[in-house]
Amino acid sequence: MLSLILPTYNERESLPALIPRITEILRGVEYEIIVVDDDSPDRTWEVARELSRRHEQLHVTRRVGRRGLSSAVIEGFLAAKGDVFVVMDADGQHDAALLPRIAAAAEENKGIAVGSRYMEGGSVGNWEGFRAFVSRLGGSLAIWLCKVKVTDPMSGFFAISRGTFEEVLPRLNPKGFKILLDLLVHVPAGTNVKELPFSFGKRLLGESKFSAQVRMQYLEFLYDATVGRFIPLTLIKYCVVGALGVAVNLSAYMASTLLLRESSQYGLFPTPLISGIEAAILFNFLLNNAWTFSRARLRGWGAVTGFAKYNVVCAFGALANIAVTAFLFRGGMSAIGSIAIGAFVGMIWNYTIGKLFTWNA
Ligand code: GDD
Ligand code: MN
Repeated sequence: MLSLILPTYNERESLPALIPRITEILRGVEYEIIVVDDDSPDRTWEVARELSRRHEQLHVTRRVGRRGLSSAVIEGFLAAKGDVFVVMDADGQHDAALLPRIAAAAEENKGIAVGSRYMEGGSVGNWEGFRAFVSRLGGSLAIWLCKVKVTDPMSGFFAISRGTFEEVLPRLNPKGFKILLDLLVHVPAGTNVKELPFSFGKRLLGESKFSAQVRMQYLEFLYDATVGRFIPLTLIKYCVVGALGVAVNLSAYMASTLLLRESSQYGLFPTPLISGIEAAILFNFLLNNAWTFSRARLRGWGAVTGFAKYNVVCAFGALANIAVTAFLFRGGMSAIGSIAIGAFVGMIWNYTIGKLFTWNA
């Protein structure tokens, strides 16, 4: 049995033409179609449900509160009954006529079959230059990460056997658009892959969801799959925030020195010093909460108590910083060297403990 997964987001105009076309092409085949819709604002799920009254092979899942092409496809696989799963865009850009051949290829090799735009005989159609360039570049970065050789690891048109999917399932990282790449990066080496050329068509109705956010998620995925195994992305983000925090600290220090004019004569007068530090702690907390640890974001009261905890974490971090700096400096290291290493140790402390204690991440 063949299970066709159609992820949809705002495709109400495309579905009514696509479903009858697929039914036509798959006549005589044992199949089911699973539409996985992420609660589209245009109510695609409603149109799909309506269609499913006339097409009994059609099933509809409406996911509420979740978004993402990759995770929608995985959810479709998990609901599927077939021995081979096929994924296709619901907007008509993938030629449904190729569907039976892609499915048959994955069924035969008990692995994966990919509809490729980049092999001999395939094409990306008339994409504007920039999109074609991004896709090409993204593709070449991706190719060397794959366990098996393909020309188009970013294709949205592919088939996978149930056995292969169940084997990689626990290792998947379903962020963003790149579901096929995720599968190809995590399959055991030696998995069979066959590619079939196809021409990527023009979108007739609706618009593409390939947004700037999707591109960002793709870069994060590449990072996670390479350097991220040694240095977590959250640590890099934390360091960026920390560096910006130093600038905030200095600006707040200077601003309050100006406000309390007389204090400037005392150099490191406590009020400006403390307001600089506190401004930096608040800034770092807000930015880490919104960006670095966005997946464990604290809200409402949680954010208030989280901020209090973060102050405690940073106080211990400052002690560690001072202790290390003093130790190295007394041991004969230069002032700059000891300060830099002390600050680095303080930062790693704040990151590690803050992550566990403030964000539970
Ligand atoms: N459920 C769900 N949730 N479906 C989604 C989401 C989402 O968040 N985002 C997009 N889709 C659906 C769309 O409705 C469409 O059926 C399909 O996924 C592909 O989305 P498009 O917005 O049409 O993508 P594209 O045509 O720009 O991108 C094509 O090329 C990419 C690589 O360059 C697709 O083939 C992608 O799959 C492919 O990765
Ligand atoms: Mn599309």
